Amino acid sequence: MNGKLIDGREIGKQIREEIKERVEGLKAKGYTPGLAVIIVGDDQASHTYVKNKQKSSVEVGMKSELIKLPATVTEEELLAEIDKLNHDDTIHGILVQLPLPKHIDENRVILAIDAKKDVDGFHPENVGKMMIGQPTFLPCTPYGIIKLLERTNTPIQGKHAVVIGRSNIVGKPMGQLLLQRDATVTYCHSRTADLAKYTTQADIVIVAVGRAKMINETHIKEGAVVIDVGMNRDEFGKLCGDVDFDRVKEKASAITPVPGGVGPMTITMLLKNTLLSAEAVYANQK
Ligand code: GUN
Repeated sequence: MNGKLIDGREIGKQIREEIKERVEGLKAKGYTPGLAVIIVGDDQASHTYVKNKQKSSVEVGMKSELIKLPATVTEEELLAEIDKLNHDDTIHGILVQLPLPKHIDENRVILAIDAKKDVDGFHPENVGKMMIGQPTFLPCTPYGIIKLLERTNTPIQGKHAVVIGRSNIVGKPMGQLLLQRDATVTYCHSRTADLAKYTTQADIVIVAVGRAKMINETHIKEGAVVIDVGMNRDEFGKLCGDVDFDRVKEKASAITPVPGGVGPMTITMLLKNTLLSAEAVYANQK
């Protein structure tokens, strides 16, 4: 393989070791970082994601609280749970797993989370701070991708980065974080005409559309760095990304696999944000 594998499992593990040490430092001062995760309904994939988040938070020594609510829960009941966590001093991070059932207004729920505990970085106050480059919680997936690039010594400054996808969770903030690191950023998406015209000019391609193997070697410049955020099933039911890995790996200078690329980083940065939240509270209480 020409392309070098970017190992998110290994990089994530290293960062979690660093987080664990800092958690131990806080605990030695009698202070334990706490993460609360709320899940609504019984979507299997969401439950798996949440279980992994919880397991990882315990592994780094954090307090972990899981709140399972039925799909029939009312918006008011959910908001009341969030309010309790907002006022719980043992909780430094609150995450409400998305998507939520249709009868619940997602925007209202996100707005209800105390911005200081918004470890997902979804609250408009934190989104705004990120946009203007003020320190805040960065959304976990784009933040994790920046760490993957940094820890593999991938230059960003002056490079042309093409982000495919424009979600509030990944695509939009991803472009901003790259821009802040002096990349030239192009946004593409599912409706972009002649996608390859843009992607073949890219030094860094970040794909977050949610369409199995939509990117192949015809989209990629020789030597580009390819980051795949997709998590899909192929025609055989096997996990795969938005990138056709086997067709792109020879052409790329570095590429993330699915699974084992971006996924482990998302969880890792959630823990990092929770740690930063707890450290900030601790520093203010001293
Ligand atoms: N659903 C899919 N990804 C995420 C995420 O990063 N955070 C939350 N809260 N829900 C999600």
